[in-house]
Amino acid sequence: MNRTLGILISGRGSNLKAIIDAIARQQLDARIAVVISNRADAPGLDRAIAAGIETLVLDHQAYASREDYDRVLVSELRKRDVALVCLAGFMRLLSPVFVDAFPNRILNIHPSLLPKYPGLHPQQQALDDHATESGATVHVVNADLDAGPVILQKTVPVLPEDTADSLAGRILEIEHLLYPLAITKVLDGN
Ligand code: GRF
Repeated sequence: MNRTLGILISGRGSNLKAIIDAIARQQLDARIAVVISNRADAPGLDRAIAAGIETLVLDHQAYASREDYDRVLVSELRKRDVALVCLAGFMRLLSPVFVDAFPNRILNIHPSLLPKYPGLHPQQQALDDHATESGATVHVVNADLDAGPVILQKTVPVLPEDTADSLAGRILEIEHLLYPLAITKVLDGN
């Protein structure tokens, strides 16, 4: 079975690193064919290069429309026979051109217990809501933002002294555990 991943990033790439490490430790049976960033300065690109993974920068600003950009993304992923697309801090909305090209084969990780706190600044949303717990969610990407079927979730406490940054840090630690597990679950057909 094809266990080839394509990972899309825009920034730091700590979830990308967690996936790379899980593969290296043989906790995740998969191969990363390519890491694509829409930003040339994404630090995550260096993590991929250090691991000997092919990288590609596709600047969305060079394309006239979201659909044009997504067509190129799809083409690059298909060229490399990618079976599962993992969004890891990819700060772009996907058009139907992309979502329909990989039905039920695109995952995203989001730092809240979806359906709570979708969109931007979910940690601040949790604090503003006086939530006593939050967490992370890996879900399937469909046409609606942060709304596809949930694969895995894990909860963390929100502490009285938390700031958005301290809560983000606590959630990030569990994101790194959760994403490789969720990828395994999907690749194994569960
Ligand atoms: C993570 O918090 C992830 O949940 C969200 O964007 C952030 C990406 O962080 N979608 P990193 O680039 O993986 O370090």
